[in-house]
Amino acid sequence: MQQQLGYIYDRIETLSPMHSKKLKKNMAFFDDRYLELADTFFNKYTRILQAQNKTLDYSIDCYLQMIADVNSETIEFLRTGKYTSSTFDEVNKRVYARPETMEYYMHGLIMSQFLWRHHYQMFNYFITTLPQYVNVIKHYLEVGVGHGFYLSKVLEVLNPESSITAVDISETSIALAKSFINDSRIDFILKDIFEFDNHKKYDFITLGEVLEHVEDPLKLLLKLNALLSPDGVLFFTTPTNAPAIDHIYLFNNVDEIRLLIKAAGFQIESEMAILSEDVSPEKAEKYKVAVLYGAFIKKSNPTN
Ligand SMILES: C[S@@+](CC[C@H](N)C(=O)[O-])C[C@H]1O[C@@H](n2cnc3c(N)ncnc32)[C@H](O)[C@@H]1O
Repeated sequence: MQQQLGYIYDRIETLSPMHSKKLKKNMAFFDDRYLELADTFFNKYTRILQAQNKTLDYSIDCYLQMIADVNSETIEFLRTGKYTSSTFDEVNKRVYARPETMEYYMHGLIMSQFLWRHHYQMFNYFITTLPQYVNVIKHYLEVGVGHGFYLSKVLEVLNPESSITAVDISETSIALAKSFINDSRIDFILKDIFEFDNHKKYDFITLGEVLEHVEDPLKLLLKLNALLSPDGVLFFTTPTNAPAIDHIYLFNNVDEIRLLIKAAGFQIESEMAILSEDVSPEKAEKYKVAVLYGAFIKKSNPTN
C-alpha cells in the first residue's frame, strides 16, 4: 500500500480501533485503479495541506470528528426515525455559517472519498461514465462543489474550451475547492442554489450529495431542469437513511428517489445504488443502513 494511505490506516487504527476494523473491511471492494488514484490524490492533497501549514494528522482528526458526528446522529436517527434537523435555517446556523465546523467537515468528507467504499465506487461510476457526454459539454455547472474533488477530476476530461461554473453556499467549501483546483477557467459563485439565476443553459450539471440538504428536493430538481439545455445531462448522488449534521430530507429507499426524478420531468439514463455496509438490500432497508444512489438523467421532454 502506498505511503500516505498506509499511514492513514495505521493512525486511524491507533486512534479509533473500532472504526479501523470497518474501514479494513471496505478494502476488499476496491478495484485495481484504487491505489493509483489514491496515490495521485494524497500526493496532491498533502501538498495543499503543507501550503496551509497542516499535515495529514489534521485531516485524520477532521475525518474522525466527522465520524463522531455521524455516530451521534445515527443514535438519534435509529431512536426517532428522523434526521435531527428539518429546516434549512437550522443547518445553516449549525453548519454552513460556521467556518470551523465546515472546515473539519469538508476535510473529513474529502478523506472519505478514499476510505468509504460507497464514496469511492460512486466517484468511479461518475468518472468512467462522464467521457461519453464530454463532446457535447460547452457549459458545465457543479452545484454544491464542496471540497472540489469531483470537479478537479472533471477538469482532466472536459474540453479545454468549456465554460465551468461552481456554486456553493459555504465560503469554506469555495475556499477549499479553490485551493484544491486552482484553475482560472472556473467561475466560483458563493450562493444558495435557489438564488442562483442565469440566462445560460448548461449541457451538464453535477449535484453531488446536496439533494438531502434541502427542504424541498423536488423544487431543486425542477430548478436544475430549467437550467439544463434541452439535451443536457444531470448527474446527481444522494443517500437514503444517512443521518448527518446537515441532512434535512430523508429518503427512506431508492424508489422514493426514482419517483422524484420522474416528478421533476427527468428520465434515467443510467443509475447505481451502492450499499454502505456489507448487507443485503432488504436488510439495508429494514435496519436503515445507508444506500448511496447516483444517476445520469435527462429531460423526459427535451422541448421544455
Ligand atoms: C455534503 S457536501 C457535498 C460535496 C461534494 N459535492 C461531494 O459530493 O462530496 C454538500 C455541499 O453542498 C453545499 N450546499 C448545501 N446546500 C446548498 C445550497 N442550497 N446551495 C448551494 N450549495 C449548497 C454545502 O455547502 C456543501 O459544500
